Amino acid sequence: MARFIDELKRTHRCNDLRAADEGKETVLFGWVASYRDHGGCVFVDLRDRDGITQIVFDPNLSGHAAQPKESYERARALRSEWVIGVRGKVVSRGANKNPRLDTGEIEVHAIELVIFNKSDTPPFEITDAVDTGEEKRLQYRYLDLRRAPLQKTLRIRHKINQAVRSYFDAQGFLELETPFMVKYTPGGARNFLVPSRMSAGKFYALAESPQLFKQLYMVAGFDRYFQIVKCFRDEALRLDRQPEFTQIDVEMSFINQDDVFKVMEGLIFKIWKEVLGIDLKQKYPSGRFLQMPFEESMAKYGNDKPDMRFEMLHTDITKIVVKHGGANVALFSPIADKFKSGEYRADLPAEIIKAMRVPAQFASKLSRAELDKLEDFVKGMGSKGLARAKIDEAGQWAQSPLGKTVAPEAREEINHAVGAKTGDLVFFQFGKESTVQTVMANLRVHLAKKLGLIPESGHGGNFEFLWVTNPPLFEYDDEAKAWVAAHHAFTRPHDECIDWLEKDPGKVLCYRYDLVLNGFEIGGGSIRLHDPNIQAKVFRALGISDEQAREKFGFLLDALRFGAPPHGGIALGMDRLSMLLSGAQSLRDVIPFPKTQRGTDPMTDAPSRLDAEQLRELHIRIVEPQ
Ligand code: AMO
Repeated sequence: MARFIDELKRTHRCNDLRAADEGKETVLFGWVASYRDHGGCVFVDLRDRDGITQIVFDPNLSGHAAQPKESYERARALRSEWVIGVRGKVVSRGANKNPRLDTGEIEVHAIELVIFNKSDTPPFEITDAVDTGEEKRLQYRYLDLRRAPLQKTLRIRHKINQAVRSYFDAQGFLELETPFMVKYTPGGARNFLVPSRMSAGKFYALAESPQLFKQLYMVAGFDRYFQIVKCFRDEALRLDRQPEFTQIDVEMSFINQDDVFKVMEGLIFKIWKEVLGIDLKQKYPSGRFLQMPFEESMAKYGNDKPDMRFEMLHTDITKIVVKHGGANVALFSPIADKFKSGEYRADLPAEIIKAMRVPAQFASKLSRAELDKLEDFVKGMGSKGLARAKIDEAGQWAQSPLGKTVAPEAREEINHAVGAKTGDLVFFQFGKESTVQTVMANLRVHLAKKLGLIPESGHGGNFEFLWVTNPPLFEYDDEAKAWVAAHHAFTRPHDECIDWLEKDPGKVLCYRYDLVLNGFEIGGGSIRLHDPNIQAKVFRALGISDEQAREKFGFLLDALRFGAPPHGGIALGMDRLSMLLSGAQSLRDVIPFPKTQRGTDPMTDAPSRLDAEQLRELHIRIVEPQ
C-alpha cells in the first residue's frame, strides 16, 4: 500500500478526465461501481464522490514491463465496492464514447493496481435509482450516500452553506454560536429534554431554535447576527419535518419588517444563482417578492403557505349564505341559523362555508370515478364529504343535490362571487373553520397535481416566492379555552392594535412573516417586542401572571430592561430549502443522516435503552409502558 498514497498521489478525481487529457498518466482512487471481464480484458467503472471513470485492465498493454499483466490478474478478482487505486494512461475512446458519463470520451488503461480494501456484498446495489425500502437504505446510510443523487444533494447543501456565509459576511453580519442545552421555556414546539446528572431531578431542554439567545445578542449590541444551526423539536414527523434540522438563523437591530425582507431576498437571489445558476432577477426584476396578508392567504388558499404556481382560488361564501338565510340548502342552514340566533361567538370554534372553482377546461378532465375518489380524499382529512355542482348553461347547479333546492338569487350571487361559468365545477366545504380550511387547501394542491398544473414533486423549473404577512398575534385554543401565542410571546403587535390586547385579543395583528416557496414554508420570523410595558400587556392577554412570566422567561425579561434595541429576525429552514432546490421529495433525501418517520435511526439503533447504572446516575426510574 505504501507505494500508492505515499508515493503515488491522486492526480485526478473520477469526474475530471476529458478528451483533452489524452496521453496523460493519472492516479485515481475510488470504489468499484461495476466490473466486466470479457475479451481478455477487465473493465471497471471506478467511482468517487464526483463521478465515474472507466478503467481497462489489458494484460497486453505494451511498454510497461510486467505491471499491466499482474494488474490484470489481480483485477479479475475485483468485486463491487472494493476500494482500489489505479495508475494508468488516459486513452481516447474515439467513436466508442459513452454519452451517459461525463468522462465518457476517455478511458484509463491501467498499468498498476492496488486493492486497498475488499467489501462484503452490499445489501443493495449502489445505483442512481434503487427500489430498496427506505428503512434498509437508512440502516446502511453510508452506502446509500455513495449514490449519485445523494452526493448531488449534499453538494447542494455545501453550496448553500458557502453562499450563506459569504453573503452575510459581506453584509456585516457576525456568525455567532448559541447553546443547545438550554432552560426549558414553554410555548412553541415540544422540546427534547436532557437529564442533568449534577442537578438531581433537573433537566435541560435541547434548543428548538436559538430564538432567545439571538435576542440577547441584540441586547448585547451585536446588531447583526447569523448562524447555520441545528434545532431540535419533538414533533410529529412529516415529509418536511425532522426532529433534528438546520436553520439559517438571522437577527438584526434597528430595522423594520421590510429591512428583514430585503436582506433575505438578497440571500435567496444569491443562493439561486450560485446553486442552480438561475438569475431570479428575470422573474423578479425589482428584486422583491410578492407580499400577501395572512387573512387573504387563508381566504383564497385555505392556509398560510399557498402554492402560487397555479390559480384555483377559494371563495368564502359564508356571508352570502347567511344573508340568504341558508340559501335553502339543508346542509348550509345550520351555519346560517347560528348567526341568526346570535349563538355564533368568537370564542366558539368558528364555522364557515367555502367554495372552490375548477375551470371548465380542467373540470372536463375529471371522470365520475375520479370525482368519487376526491370524496374519499377529503374524508381522510376528517371531512364528511365533498359537495359539488356543475355549472350548466343557465348557471344552474347540475349534477348536484344542492342544485335541487338552492334559492336562485343565492345561487346567482354565489356563482358571481366564485366566478363560475358554464362547464365549471364548484366544490363546497362547510363546518368547523379549521377543518374546512385544511380540507380545501389540501384539495386544491391535490387537484393541481392530478390535473398536471404542478408536478407530483419537485419544482418543475418554477419558483414562486411569497411573503405572508400580518397574521393575528394570538390564536384561540379550543381545548384549553384560552388565547395562546400563535408564534411566540415576544412578537411585536401592530401599534394600532395595542388597545385590542385587552379588549379583543383575537383582533390583534402582529409583525410576523413567513417566506413561502411553492407551497412550503421555508422561513419564518418576526419583529420582536422590546418594550417591557407592551410585553406585560401581551402576557396578561395570554393569561400569564407576572410571577409566571418571571419564572418562565425571567432572564429575557431582565435583559429587555437593560437597553434592548428595536430588533427582529427570521430563520430559514435549510433542509427545506435544500429539498426544494434539489427537487427531492422528502427531507430525508437531503439530510445526510436523518431519522425515520418514527424518529428512529435504523443505522445506530437510536434511541436506545440505558443500563440501570446510567439511569441511577441520572436519578431516573423508567415506568414501563402498559
Ligand atoms: P420557525 O419555527 O418558523 O421559526 O422555524 C423556521 C423555519 O424552520 C423550518 N422548520 C423545520 N424544518 C424541518 N423540520 C422541522 N421540524 C422544522 N420546523 C421548522 C421551517 C420554518 O419556516 N425562532 C424562529 C425564527 C424567528 O422568529 O426568527 C423559528 O424557529 O422552514
